[in-house]
Amino acid sequence: MPTLLHLDSSADLTTSRSRAITATFADAWRSLGADHTVIHRDLHREPLPHLTDAALHFPPRLRPEGASPSAEQEALQQQLIAELVAADVLVIGVPLYNYSMPSTLKAWIDYIHLPAVTASFDDPATQQPLAARPAVLISTRGGVYDSGTATEFDDHALPALRLILGNALGMTVETIVATRTLSERFGAPADEVAKQHAELAAAHESAAQTARRLG
Ligand SMILES: Cc1cc2nc3c(=O)[nH]c(=O)nc-3n(C[C@H](O)[C@H](O)[C@H](O)COP(=O)(O)O)c2cc1C
Repeated sequence: MPTLLHLDSSADLTTSRSRAITATFADAWRSLGADHTVIHRDLHREPLPHLTDAALHFPPRLRPEGASPSAEQEALQQQLIAELVAADVLVIGVPLYNYSMPSTLKAWIDYIHLPAVTASFDDPATQQPLAARPAVLISTRGGVYDSGTATEFDDHALPALRLILGNALGMTVETIVATRTLSERFGAPADEVAKQHAELAAAHESAAQTARRLG
């Protein structure tokens, strides 16, 4: 049963571009057959609590002596990791918030990035259960951070997610980007609005194609 884990984190419940593009991805996934399952977790509507104990970043054998993190949070962490490991493909809506990822998505990352459990640490035989698993990041942003622009190094969301999901967890990370999303709202010149429309249409097309290729 091919399973897609679909995460959204936009705080915009009406006009969000990332929610629309992840929905296109999920719809294309479902269209591949009745066996193609989607698990949807909305990190904004149902936010995860922040980690209350740094010990949760490590499995019990690597925790400081005497550490006793909340059993409830540990159970939640196990559930989130199991949900991720059970998925064949991960798609995440990543709106750019203050040059970074939404705190709701960061909270999820803090639960699932565990050295020696999901990430490599000291025992290659039991680590990186997600190695080579596809992760598709749908990045939406009001501004432009394309290479060659003055702001090209100002996006701190995708680089961090590539480091964690790609380098640490070993997943195969792909990105689909839609920029200038606020151009119409703030009366940008017509050519900027046209670029935004073209990028958005291309992002939807790319999301559908990627879902069909990975499914
Ligand atoms: C809290 C907040 C912070 C934002 N910070 C940035 C930013 O640093 N850079 C940027 O280009 N756009 C920023 N934006 C604009 C969003 O990236 C843009 O509206 C994007 O389309 C959001 O994704 P969504 O359409 O899926 O909601 C911000 C929006 C919000 C709500």
